[in-house]
Order: sequence, then structure tokens, then C-alpha cells
Amino acid sequence: MHIREATPDDAPGIARVHVATWRTAYSGIVPAEHLAGLSYERSEARWHENLAGQGDGRFTLVAEVDGAIAGFASGGPGRDDAPGYQGELYGLYILVAYQRHGIGRALMLTAARRLAADGCKAMIIWVLKDNLQARAFYEALGGVPLSEKTITVGGAELIDMAYGWPDIRSLTHGEARPM
Ligand SMILES: CC(C)(COP(=O)(O)OP(=O)(O)OC[C@H]1O[C@@H](n2cnc3c(N)ncnc32)[C@H](O)[C@@H]1OP(=O)(O)O)[C@@H](O)C(=O)NCCC(=O)NCCS
Repeated sequence: MHIREATPDDAPGIARVHVATWRTAYSGIVPAEHLAGLSYERSEARWHENLAGQGDGRFTLVAEVDGAIAGFASGGPGRDDAPGYQGELYGLYILVAYQRHGIGRALMLTAARRLAADGCKAMIIWVLKDNLQARAFYEALGGVPLSEKTITVGGAELIDMAYGWPDIRSLTHGEARPM
């Protein structure tokens, strides 16, 4: 397993992971029609634009296994929701076939190190409250529940929950333990 910074050429591989993982992770949480309507092509175009325009501290990391993208993490400056949390992990997705092999942990620790190097002292991530597997993962890595808000996804009102790491060093001093 190899973690590296993503480039615009990674847009197809990231889109493949993003759409496939949304469909598995959010089945039974996000409306089925919305998941069925997700498009690899649209996702790829958005990722290409996103990766080509990345700056201002935003970054995307990919984890490759045998040369193919098995997961990715994106992060950057915290958005306005939680003052004091300078760094945010915007998303973290691992293909279902590669979950529970330490890739999520390794991506998260690498992202935390990157945020810390950019001067962030605290990190936040938002996760759907019904996404119990991801919540178990964040709790295993020491995340503390911070707050909740209602968001609309595919026409459904869902609860989004924030987990925080008030001292990012609790992550950056951790061990990546790759597969
Ligand atoms: C959540 C996710 C990122 C975790 O990544 P991962 O590579 O599967 O997790 P890791 O193997 O690094 O797990 C690290 C630790 O987290 C905990 N953990 C991970 N998945 C868990 C689960 N499903 N249930 C309970 N604990 C879990 C365990 O303590 C695990 O350590 P262990 O395997 O030694 O017991 C990944 O499963 C995923 O992409 N899920 C679908 C998409 C998603 O929900 N993303 C988050 C959106 S905010």
C-alpha cells in the first residue's frame, strides 16, 4: 500500500472509489434513487476540476494497492461550522474490498500530519449519524463527538455529526500500521 498526493490524472480512479463507496456505505441511509443516480462521469469531471484547482491548503491523498486506487482522503482548512478547528478532513473513502486493512487509519494519519504541517492544531470531520461503521472508526482513532446539524441529501433530511480531535498531535504521533 502506497499513499501519495493525488493529481488531476487520478480523477477517474478517485471517482470510481467515491461513487462505489457511497453506494455501499450509504445504502439504507441515503435514498436509493439518489445512490442509483450517481454518475461516474459527473464525479470524474468534478474531481478533475477539483484536483486541477487545488490550493489554499486543500489537498487530496490516494492510497494505491497494486497500482490501483483503493481509497482516498481529502482535507484542508476547516469550514465555518466549528470555530477553533483549523483543519478539516472533508472526506475519507475506502473501497469495500479494502476496508479493515488499516488503509483508512493510514490515510487519516497522513492527512493529520499534513494539516499539522500547515499549522493546524485541531481537526474536525463531519459524518452521517447513521453511518455507524465510520463513527466506530473515528471513535477508535480518538475522535470526540462535538455537534450535530441537519443536512439534506437526495431529498432526505439526515443528521450530520462532527467529530473533533482538539489536539491533532494525538493523531500525528500515532502509528500508520499499513496493510
Ligand atoms: C470508515 C472507513 C474510512 C475506515 O477505513 P478502514 O480502512 O476500513 O479502517 P481501518 O482498517 O484503518 O480501521 C482502523 C480501526 O477503526 C475501527 N474500525 C474500522 N472500521 C470499523 C467498523 N466497521 N466497525 C467497528 N470498528 C471499525 C477498528 O478499531 C479498526 O482497527 P482494527 O481493524 O485493528 O480493529 C472505511 O471503512 C470506509 O471508507 N467506509 C465507507 C465510507 C465512509 O463511511 N467514509 C466516511 C465518510 S465521513
